[in-house]
Amino acid sequence: MMPLSYRSPKTEVRESKIHGRGLFATTDIAKDEIVAVKGGHIVDRKTLREKITPRLGPVEIQIDDDLFVAPVNDQERELSMLYSNHSCDPNLGMRGEITFVAMRNIRAGEELTHDWATTDDDDYSVECQCGAPNCRKILTGKDWQWRALQKRYAGYFSAYLARKIAMLDMGH
Ligand SMILES: C[S@@+](CC[C@H](N)C(=O)[O-])C[C@H]1O[C@@H](n2cnc3c(N)ncnc32)[C@H](O)[C@@H]1O
Ligand SMILES: [Zn+2]
Repeated sequence: MMPLSYRSPKTEVRESKIHGRGLFATTDIAKDEIVAVKGGHIVDRKTLREKITPRLGPVEIQIDDDLFVAPVNDQERELSMLYSNHSCDPNLGMRGEITFVAMRNIRAGEELTHDWATTDDDDYSVECQCGAPNCRKILTGKDWQWRALQKRYAGYFSAYLARKIAMLDMGH
């Protein structure tokens, strides 16, 4: 079966200290290189919450207020999963809404992680297990609103969030 998502040949999926399986660099990756692209179906929040999450677990990426990209059945799950865990000290950021790029030079062996603040605008609150010295401990779906994170991840937010941040900056 053809994969729905793209993972760079410089990556592999294996067990992670953060959670379950994670995505890892097998060779060095240069800043701004494409690491992965998420594929699947475009679904709204209601479909995700009622039909997908209960059967497949957390498999989606948010691409707008009410839109997500996700697999919709068991067979598609493995073809769509990227296995990028969250870290409060991540090495991946977003280009557009589905493309993950290196935010800095990455060494072979490092786990490839992104900060959910760069992709999510949601209403959850969860305990973080990333173990980074700067860990926020509690992650929420509104972390993109933190000024410090907006500065830190400037240029690496999902495009729909970058637009929201720009609107706030303009006083809207
Ligand atoms: C798309 S999965 C990532 C892959 C996952 N490790 C696996 O093996 O399927 C996202 C889920 O991983 C877990 N996770 C990822 N990063 C985490 C973190 N920093 N702290 C706690 N849970 C995390 C959460 O359960 C989250 O819903
Ligand atoms: Zn953390």
